[in-house]
Amino acid sequence: MKKVGILGGGQLGRMLLQAAANYPVETFVMENDSECPAANLCHHFAKGDITKFEDVYAFGKGLDALTIEIESVNEAALEKLEAEGVLIYPKPAALKIIKNKILQKQFYKAQEIPTSEFVVTTSREALLQLTDFLPAAHKIGLGGYDGKGVELLRTSEDFSRGFDAPAILEKLVTIKKEIAVIIAVSNSGEIRLYPPVDMVFDSRLNLLDYQISPADLPQNLLWKVEAIARKVVKDLQSPGIFAVELFIDDKDNVLVNETAPRVHNSGHHTIEANYCSQFDMLWRIILGYPLGNTNHIFPAAIVNLLGADGFTGPAYYEGLQEVLQIENAFVHIYGKKETKPGRKMGHVTILSREKQELIHQANRVKFGLIVKSQ
Ligand SMILES: Nc1ncnc2c1ncn2[C@@H]1O[C@H](COP(=O)(O)OP(=O)(O)OP(=O)(O)O)[C@@H](O)[C@H]1O
Ligand SMILES: [Mg+2]
Repeated sequence: MKKVGILGGGQLGRMLLQAAANYPVETFVMENDSECPAANLCHHFAKGDITKFEDVYAFGKGLDALTIEIESVNEAALEKLEAEGVLIYPKPAALKIIKNKILQKQFYKAQEIPTSEFVVTTSREALLQLTDFLPAAHKIGLGGYDGKGVELLRTSEDFSRGFDAPAILEKLVTIKKEIAVIIAVSNSGEIRLYPPVDMVFDSRLNLLDYQISPADLPQNLLWKVEAIARKVVKDLQSPGIFAVELFIDDKDNVLVNETAPRVHNSGHHTIEANYCSQFDMLWRIILGYPLGNTNHIFPAAIVNLLGADGFTGPAYYEGLQEVLQIENAFVHIYGKKETKPGRKMGHVTILSREKQELIHQANRVKFGLIVKSQ
């Protein structure tokens, strides 16, 4: 049986392990917190720091393959492990490009992949020279996630919110729609796309509000989205699962926002709504089985369950009884001990052929299931 490790033990690791239970594979997880969401679902748990060379190297040595559930892992250790024959998903070379938003944007430019115009900034002070570039999004090079590490700057008064570290300043896009495409790439380079999803955002938290699969796109835009997303993964030259986030602007230009080289929040509905889920698919890739069917069985909506404002501490799920009575809703609680405002604590997928029904039930969940602390 192949031995496969996951760096990081959050909800993505947890859902990967739920899918792993159907395959002949021995699973290993490394994470700092031995009470993390994935700790009890793997065969072997190792406590360790995914950003430390020694920890990642010791964990990966002797495994057949390794994957990640977060980008901020020690890539030098992954490079060494790869050189010693451990298969890494995604390849460290691809991870290196994506992990740093500066390198990622430069990669799009070099490959002629459409993306919003940008400049690199090295300090907050450097922003002062860039008033002409406003309005813009300032994005920290390393370490951003879930909207943290992104500041929308409209006037020079907003420069105080800019990052005092290497970052990119990119022109603000007039967004008509945000789309995400999950893509599977096999070891031999075969590519399969999942149907694109519509992402609807909470502008205050800069976090996903809900999303609908498949996205409502006219054929010409669907082709553009698919062609561009396909080019991104082709140029990254790595097997694995990728999520390409794109903007459609007011003139119907399709621009790549960013890419994640791993399973992604925008693909959670694939567990119930598609023949082969993104998690199932990653195991097929890692274990060298044929790629699965990405088609959807049912249209779906996903609502993220975020920790409610004003509550920090042991999590309590108010309204869970009611939501579990919605017949077309599938509840996923991630098992995080502590909630805090905005923390991703779970998600609910709703299936229906009627878009109105999807949105209706998504709102019932969003307002009816509240993560508080006792
Ligand atoms: N150039 C831009 N123009 C307009 N809005 C933008 C721009 N860049 C980012 N945004 C908005 O900010 C959100 C978060 O940005 P981005 O996806 O780059 O950050 P992130 O922290 O990596 O997010 P996540 O981890 O949630 O995917 C985007 O989904 C979009 O709504
Ligand atoms: Mg994003």
